[in-house]
Amino acid sequence: MKRRSALAVFGAGLALTLAACGGGGAGTGADGASSSAPADKGDITVGVAMPTQTSERWIADGKNVKEGLEKAGYKVDLQYANDDIPTQSQQIDQMITKGDKVLIVAAIDGTALSSQLSSAASAGIKVISYDRLIRGSKDVDFYVSFDNYKVGVQQGTSLLTGLGLKNADGSEGTATGPFNVELFAGSLDDNNAQFFWNGAYDTLKPYIDSGKLKVKSGQTKIDQAAILRWQQETAQKRMEDLLTSAYNDGSKVDGVLSPYDGISRGIITALQNAGYGGSGTKMPVITGQDAEIASVKLINDGVQYSTIFKDTRKLADQAVVAATALVEGKEPEANDTKTYNNGVKVVPSYLLESQVVTKDNVKSALVDTGYYTQAEVDAGKAS
Ligand code: GAL
Repeated sequence: MKRRSALAVFGAGLALTLAACGGGGAGTGADGASSSAPADKGDITVGVAMPTQTSERWIADGKNVKEGLEKAGYKVDLQYANDDIPTQSQQIDQMITKGDKVLIVAAIDGTALSSQLSSAASAGIKVISYDRLIRGSKDVDFYVSFDNYKVGVQQGTSLLTGLGLKNADGSEGTATGPFNVELFAGSLDDNNAQFFWNGAYDTLKPYIDSGKLKVKSGQTKIDQAAILRWQQETAQKRMEDLLTSAYNDGSKVDGVLSPYDGISRGIITALQNAGYGGSGTKMPVITGQDAEIASVKLINDGVQYSTIFKDTRKLADQAVVAATALVEGKEPEANDTKTYNNGVKVVPSYLLESQVVTKDNVKSALVDTGYYTQAEVDAGKAS
């Protein structure tokens, strides 16, 4: 529903642009037949720079943004940078050289793109920061994302709920602990990592202070918990190290705060290799984010406790709507003009809502909304 209305707005906007350009008979060939890509629309290319194809989430984002833009008549230059910062910088340089009109960028390192953005601004190219805020540049025109602090709160809260310290309705649970937990954070060069961490840590801190939660490793600082580039293997290695160093006395891990499903899968592998989830030792309560299909299956199978669903279809729609406004020389509509200071300016933002998903609502949140089919959830694979 949301998707359709967003695209309708976009289509209408583009029609106005075309009328202003004096393009006649858009979509109609000389023989009067409808052509698939109206010529005038194709004059505008939107560059889309995505970080990596190793994560299903970014594949979906790239696909959704591309489809949305194409449906509205734009040409799209979609590039993935393999999580390599120089590659992404180079891709953006090329987009600028080729004369793309708007750039939609999900940065690998949010601080590494200032010179590219300054060239873009000089060339009159507008820049939308996609999901991850680009820092240290005045040349970011708009930001589309989710309420990232709230995502962290949701992750922290679901860890508490899974452990029984809180009830689903938000009231205090009957469990008293103490529970052994370990904390993971995302990649420190991604602005979101700090927001997720702050939201989660603020939520967990009272329970750490009261002794109901015990971070047995003592690693409670974000730089101790951070996983560079959000890598699954790095997370697995850190969990293995934690098990060896802090749980070699027969004690068990009861919960793990994980900020992202890929990291959760690394944590799960380390735990399974150490005998968790087999006979005798329960899997800890493990959180996540992105509702990646492999992790949704793990949730259904009772291996991972929760994830945070961020509907990338809606995010893509917002990026398309914002791109349209910028092409038309308008300010995209923001719903937050305070939170996202990138170190140089507060970037006007459109933030979407996220949702906690556990085994109880996989179907209503992910299948009934058409995000996945039941067959995909059962197989743990997107088709
Ligand atoms: C963040 C994003 C998360 C997750 C993570 C790892 O920037 O907000 O949803 O995808 O990157 O890719």
